[in-house]
Amino acid sequence: MNSKLSEANIYIKENKHKVVEEYRLNYHVMAPIGWINDPNGFCEYSGEYHLFYQHYPYAAVWGTMHWGHVKSKDLIRWEHVEVALAPDQHYDNEGCFSGSAIEHDGKLYLMYTGVSSDPVIGQKQIQCIAVSSDGSHFEKVNENPVIGSDVLPKDAIPGDFRDPKVWRKDDYFYSIIASRNIDTSGQFLLFKSDNLIEWTYVNSIVRSENKLGKMWECPDLFLLDGKDVLIMSPMGLEKDGDRYWNKQSCIYMVGKLDYENGDYTYHKKDEIDFGLDFYAPQTLIDEKGRRIMIAWMQMWERNQPTSEHGHNWAGAMTLPRELKLVGDKLYQKVVEEIKEYRREEISYSNEVVVGNRTLVGVEGSSIELELEADMKKANVFGLKLFKSGEEETLAFYSKTQGKFVFDRTKSGHTIIGGEEDIKHGVRKVLLNLHENIIKLNIFIDRCSLEIFINDGEFAMSSTVYPKSKNYGIEFFSDAEVEIKKLTKWKIEIT
Ligand code: FRU
Repeated sequence: MNSKLSEANIYIKENKHKVVEEYRLNYHVMAPIGWINDPNGFCEYSGEYHLFYQHYPYAAVWGTMHWGHVKSKDLIRWEHVEVALAPDQHYDNEGCFSGSAIEHDGKLYLMYTGVSSDPVIGQKQIQCIAVSSDGSHFEKVNENPVIGSDVLPKDAIPGDFRDPKVWRKDDYFYSIIASRNIDTSGQFLLFKSDNLIEWTYVNSIVRSENKLGKMWECPDLFLLDGKDVLIMSPMGLEKDGDRYWNKQSCIYMVGKLDYENGDYTYHKKDEIDFGLDFYAPQTLIDEKGRRIMIAWMQMWERNQPTSEHGHNWAGAMTLPRELKLVGDKLYQKVVEEIKEYRREEISYSNEVVVGNRTLVGVEGSSIELELEADMKKANVFGLKLFKSGEEETLAFYSKTQGKFVFDRTKSGHTIIGGEEDIKHGVRKVLLNLHENIIKLNIFIDRCSLEIFINDGEFAMSSTVYPKSKNYGIEFFSDAEVEIKKLTKWKIEIT
């Protein structure tokens, strides 16, 4: 084993007990110690799901990137395996940046971005391959870089060329890669190969033109319900009503990829998740034919309480979500495997809320809630989550606003980001109720909150670091609301 890789693995083994448990999540992927960002190489291989991630084991801050690695049989219970990639080559000694994975001839191929410095051009980002025949140990191929700066189209900057997402269609492999132009705009470049080692450039398939954000990161392009969906993480996207309030956003486009001419046209775009902490999503298609997405549940340019308080870790992934298109709208729901981990069910039906109300047993630090409420007579209805004394996190629907609102301004440890707006803890999404019914599926896990509204029509994911450990829940309304049904489960990985 090479020295950078063994150094990382030994460090993790010897130091992981130093992680402070206080906010550690129970049913989400985290690094054993240190920093985590983007999901990478999300795939199914030899009957198991694999997820890699941007990882700096040595501190709870971003550093020279490694690829951490977990695997799972059911997408919920994950097992840590050894770090897969370390920045140990002259072409990736400043980091093994994001990328993806694909199986070919029984082997698992990782395609990632190698970062290094060049005396003439400055930072250089190139694309590399590492291969494994056991799904755990990876060899970087001698042909690296498999896509160098020399093949970049004119006007593309060699210092911003990253995050390859690879897939197979018919007899070819394709890779879509993020690139920055000299005019600062972002674009996605398409490459084609029949062996994953030799690549030819097809075209720049879609561009931001500095109108839809600047640099674009982390592309993923896939067929969903007959349409080519492109997801991406644009930097510097302008606010649009309640959309794109985070410093960096995530959007999906629905359209068509012309493989021959290398051109992507789209007729619809929207934000993927309306919460505060959701970035760099990546998908896989599994053997059951499901398109499943996972993302980093964090945002750049924000303070992170676990880093600040010396907990020796920072960051987690969202729950894996199955995607579908309804018309051109992207719906998300947590994979059904989560149901296997539901424990201690508590149910209510036909409960009336006027003002504030708690329900016995409806609380907890690692739980799932499912509820359906009739707002016929009320204007406002919602939940105060992570509730204890003055501390609360609001999630409610307001008919006057026609919006679902999330508010973490009174949530506990303050999180402030690069956003200029003072409303740094509030996010809203416009939505219509059908027959006054609101349906919510909520997942709380120590310092995270994922809310799915009306059967996955909208999602809002955010971190919340409560100072109190009560994890209470209070329902509130301005007039009579009937909770038609409500179920709460403890989620436990046993
Ligand atoms: C997105 C990103 C990627 C890059 C990685 C580095 O969050 O900036 O573009 O590959 O993180 O860690």
